[in-house]
Amino acid sequence: MKLAVLTGGGDAPGLNAVIRGVVRQATSDGNEVIGFRDGWKGVMDDDWMPLDVQGCRGLLTRGGTILGTTRINPFMTEDGRDRCRATFEANGVDALIAIGGEGTLSCTQEMYKLGFPVLGVPKTIDNDIGLTEMTFGFATAVDIATEAIGRLHTTAESHDRVMVVEVMGRHVGHIATWAGMAGGATRTLIPEKPFDINEVCQALTDRHTRKFASIVVVAEGAKPVPGTFDVPDDTFDEFGHVKLGGIGELVASEITKQTGFETRTTVLGYVQRGGEPSAFDRVLATWFGVEAARAANDKDFGSMVAYQCGDMTRVRIADAVEDLKFVSESLYDVASTFFATPDTESEDR
Ligand code: F6P
Repeated sequence: MKLAVLTGGGDAPGLNAVIRGVVRQATSDGNEVIGFRDGWKGVMDDDWMPLDVQGCRGLLTRGGTILGTTRINPFMTEDGRDRCRATFEANGVDALIAIGGEGTLSCTQEMYKLGFPVLGVPKTIDNDIGLTEMTFGFATAVDIATEAIGRLHTTAESHDRVMVVEVMGRHVGHIATWAGMAGGATRTLIPEKPFDINEVCQALTDRHTRKFASIVVVAEGAKPVPGTFDVPDDTFDEFGHVKLGGIGELVASEITKQTGFETRTTVLGYVQRGGEPSAFDRVLATWFGVEAARAANDKDFGSMVAYQCGDMTRVRIADAVEDLKFVSESLYDVASTFFATPDTESEDR
């Protein structure tokens, strides 16, 4: 059979390792593989490249995606779906594996409902896709953010400053929670738990009577408790995604205003998405790729590969995209055991 693969949405370390996994397994099943360029756009434009084992040399460790990626999808134009159908027919594509986050997977599910032979692989550094305990890219982003927090500790201590670190996480705080815990953050603010800036400032003030320096990790989508702190209204990009980036600076200036402590902001941004995948992500991405090629060979259309209980399984894309996966109460509860709160002791690391 002829398999196609595409990468959609924001990039994540491990995309190339998934492609390599797909190609290796598909080839050993006697299947041919092509890669559509720039996500679903490549399907609409009949823009693709052949993929074989030789061509995948070096991909295990390479960041980004050799196929390119966009958020353009067939539902954005009147003729998008017909163009995809024509591409499938013209090239004899028997199955398409879409590697992407919530947007790409939701689109893939809609295409499945229209009869397209499609499957999904969950990707996002945010780790917010349902029914899989991990998406690839997340572990790498956590490693990068944790290393940054470690470096910020020493400069914060030297200057007796508060360091605010803004990390990615549009709707969920997985990166913030994990990196905050791994790095020994003083406080971690995440979208799932609206924060009270007055209480945060009081906690920092109390803590600084005993200790130097604090690290406040802020997920880019963190929101204050309504009525406690004025933040600008959300703005949206052309794909309807909320435009973020800026909450760290707002939190930092309020901390300076309320506590008088010198406060600096570091926005980690796209550094979290670039470069080589970690060892864990190389393994997870490869595992996803191999299982996705097997699922395509089984004609298990409408399915998404998923990592559950330390093993690989398949779920329905429709079920996976039904709800975002939020930070669990139990993990945040453990993380918050180490937070500075007014009048309590807190330890960094
Ligand atoms: O979905 C992953 C993510 O990294 C989010 O945390 C972030 O808000 C978004 O992508 C930004 O991506 P872009 O600027 O490419 O739209």
